[in-house]
Amino acid sequence: MRRSVLVTGATSGVGRGAALKLAKAGFEVFATARDEEKAEKLRAEAAERDVTLRTVLLDVADADSCRDACAQVAEATEGGPWALVNNAGIPLAGAVEDIDDVAARHLLEVNVVGAARMARLVLPGMRKRGDGRIVNVSSLAGRVTAPAMGWYCAGKSALGALNDALRMEAGPGGVQVVVVEAGAYASAIQNRAADALAALAARGQTVFGDMYRVAEAGLRESATRLPGSEAVASAVCQALFAARPRPRYVVGRQARLGPVADALAPVRVKDHVKRAAMGAEAHPLVAYAARRWCTPW
Ligand SMILES: NC(=O)c1ccc[n+]([C@@H]2O[C@H](COP(=O)([O-])OP(=O)(O)OC[C@H]3O[C@@H](n4cnc5c(N)ncnc54)[C@H](OP(=O)(O)O)[C@@H]3O)[C@@H](O)[C@H]2O)c1
Repeated sequence: MRRSVLVTGATSGVGRGAALKLAKAGFEVFATARDEEKAEKLRAEAAERDVTLRTVLLDVADADSCRDACAQVAEATEGGPWALVNNAGIPLAGAVEDIDDVAARHLLEVNVVGAARMARLVLPGMRKRGDGRIVNVSSLAGRVTAPAMGWYCAGKSALGALNDALRMEAGPGGVQVVVVEAGAYASAIQNRAADALAALAARGQTVFGDMYRVAEAGLRESATRLPGSEAVASAVCQALFAARPRPRYVVGRQARLGPVADALAPVRVKDHVKRAAMGAEAHPLVAYAARRWCTPW
């Protein structure tokens, strides 16, 4: 029997890449989209590549939508997918004092609670079979905190903690839980974060206006030079192809070196460099190097 996999947030970036690759590799793929127009576009793209995948409508921030999507997949797969890829995620850019409760809660609902809810919904089927896999797509931002990214970092850090707890809890039941930690790569996320910073700067009620404007330009520029999502999508696939997956796949030099540098550097030094990376004033060389190599997403 073909192995089935449910990929959340499959309309662009890593989710789209992984869904298409998995379908090509022979998996029965259930790829989620938030609306039918995007779902149709994804199916058409799959057809162009001569692969088939099914689409399911899902908003991970909506509990009913999660239940409905998982029920549909359970019906089509006799009890639920063999694997879940928790990929759906959103950015949230801005200093802690500029982000209101509604925006913060929404970020946590999508990037953390939604992922845990999806795991909870598919786990009974996996446990019954004594076999299953959950891949959580996290980030360097879950290990290293940067200014104007506090809530995003908090969300990815929470996802990392939940991933680790789940790995220990579900492992004995035959469910392997894997985290993919990626450094920055080009996707819709940079421009979404840049738009958010531009809006905060335009609102005018912030002490960070100048920093946001520099960070906004940096994000738009980084979207043009960062590597694409290919390597991250491949790591997600590796986590599903491997008979014994590694507990953690770290993708990219930035994701490998970032946590080491963060652990070793004195706090004052790393704070200065991270502030410079996000647009604060600094010596031109520090500012150039920080913005070039410490791109946070
Ligand atoms: N880009 C980076 O530098 C980077 C680095 C490390 C980790 N990551 C993580 O990688 C994952 C994929 O991001 P990406 O860079 O590939 O970005 P992306 O191209 O923006 O893809 C995000 C996907 O999530 C979907 N999504 C957003 N909100 C959703 C919701 N409420 N319910 C269901 N789906 C939702 C989006 O759907 P719509 O098309 O409808 O918006 C889209 O399909 C995210 O978890 C992100 O945090 C990204």
